Amino acid sequence: MTLDVARIREDFPILERTARGGGQLVYLDSGATSQKPQQVLAAEQGMYSRSNAAAHRGTHLLGEESTDAYEGARAKVAAFIGAEPDETVFTRNATDAINLVAYGMSNAATSGPEAARFRAGPGDEVLITEMEHHANLVPWQQLCQRTGARLRWIPVTPEGRLDLAGLGELINSRTKLVAVTCQSNVTGTVPPVAEIAAAAHRAGALVVGDGAQLVPHQPTDVTALGVDFLAFSAHKMLAPYGLGVLYGRSELLAALPPFITGGSMIEVVRMEETTFLPPPQRFEAGVPPVAQAAGLSAACDYLTGLGMENVAAHEEALTGHALKALAEIPGVRILGPLTTEDRGGAVSFEVAGIHPHDLGQVLDESGIAVRAGHHCAWPLHRALGVQASTRATFYVYNTHDEVDALAEGIRTAQRFFGET
Ligand code: ALA
Repeated sequence: MTLDVARIREDFPILERTARGGGQLVYLDSGATSQKPQQVLAAEQGMYSRSNAAAHRGTHLLGEESTDAYEGARAKVAAFIGAEPDETVFTRNATDAINLVAYGMSNAATSGPEAARFRAGPGDEVLITEMEHHANLVPWQQLCQRTGARLRWIPVTPEGRLDLAGLGELINSRTKLVAVTCQSNVTGTVPPVAEIAAAAHRAGALVVGDGAQLVPHQPTDVTALGVDFLAFSAHKMLAPYGLGVLYGRSELLAALPPFITGGSMIEVVRMEETTFLPPPQRFEAGVPPVAQAAGLSAACDYLTGLGMENVAAHEEALTGHALKALAEIPGVRILGPLTTEDRGGAVSFEVAGIHPHDLGQVLDESGIAVRAGHHCAWPLHRALGVQASTRATFYVYNTHDEVDALAEGIRTAQRFFGET
C-alpha cells in the first residue's frame, strides 16, 4: 500500500516550521536522527504528566504504572523485530548497545566458565567491515587493544559493496566475532548479513548486526537476519533520544558478563560480593528511561500502523528518484550503488569543485537540511577515495517534491560557485 505522505506529514509538528530563508523545511537528514510524530511526543509527555515514577522500585500506583509502561514497551519492541522480551535490552543508543557486547567480552576474562565463549585474546580475531560507521568500528578496535585480539575487516569495492571474495579466509577458526552493518549509513548498501552470519556460525564465531539504519526502515526479523546480537537506536525510528536496544539470543545474554553495574541489575548485594539478575535486567543498571520507552512503544505502533513493507517501498521509490535526479547533474558523483537493489535510502554524493560543507550551507539557505562530512564513517570515505560527502536520507514524511528540491538546490550551488 502506498503511504499517504500528506496525511503522515500532519503528524509531524516540526514540518510546519519555516527554515532558514523563510521557506518550508525540507528535512533530508533522518539518517542522523528522525523527526518525531505527535503520537510519540504525546506518549512521552503522558508518562511525565500522568505516571512519572521510577520503574521497578516504588510499591505505589505510579511506580506500578511506570513499570508496566516500561515492560510493555519492551514487549512491543521485541515483537517489532521478531524477538522475545527477555532478549530485548534497553540501552542508551546503538553505540551503547555495541559497547555492551564489547565490554561484556573483555569482562569475560575475569568471569566464570559460562562466559568462556566471550573471551578474546592473542590469537583470536574480530572481523568487521570497512563500511562500518564509527559506532561499530571503534568499540571493536578498543576491544582488540584491551585483549590482544587482532582486528580484521572485509574491504569495500569501488561501488561501495562488501568485497566478499576473501571471506573464506577472513572468517576462520580464529574468528571470535563478526560485526557488520545491516545497512550502510553512507551508501545505503545492504550487505548479505544472513550469508555472512551463516559463514561466521560455521566457524563458531558470534555475529553482531548494526541495525541502526535497518530497523527504522525495513521489516526486521532477527531470526531471518541470523545475527546473535542486533543494536539500534530509538531516535532514528521516530522515537526519543537517549534510548537504544540490544537484541541478544537468550542463551548468549544469559552468559554475557554485565558492562555497567549498579542498582536495578542486582539480585543480592553484600559488602563482599554481588549476584546479578538474569537478562535483560542484568544489563540495565540505574533508573530506567521510562518516558523514552513509552515514546519508542508509540513509535513502533506508528510504524506498524503504516506497515514496514510500505515504509520500505516508499523509501525505495524516493531513493530511485534521487539516484536518477542526481545522476543527471553534471559534476555529481554518487557514492555507492547506483540502483536500489540491496540498497536503502541513504544517498551520499560529491559535487565537483564544491566542498560538502559549502554545499550544505547553500542547501540550507533554501531550507534543505542534509548532512555534510564523513558521517561518522571516515574509513569508508577513504576507501571510496573522498575526504567527505554530502548525504540525503529519507523517511516516511519525505516527498518526491523534496527530492526535486534537492536536485535544484545542487544546481543552484553549482551556479553560485561557478561550477556549471
Ligand atoms: N550515524 C549517524 C549518521 O549516520 C549519526 O548520521
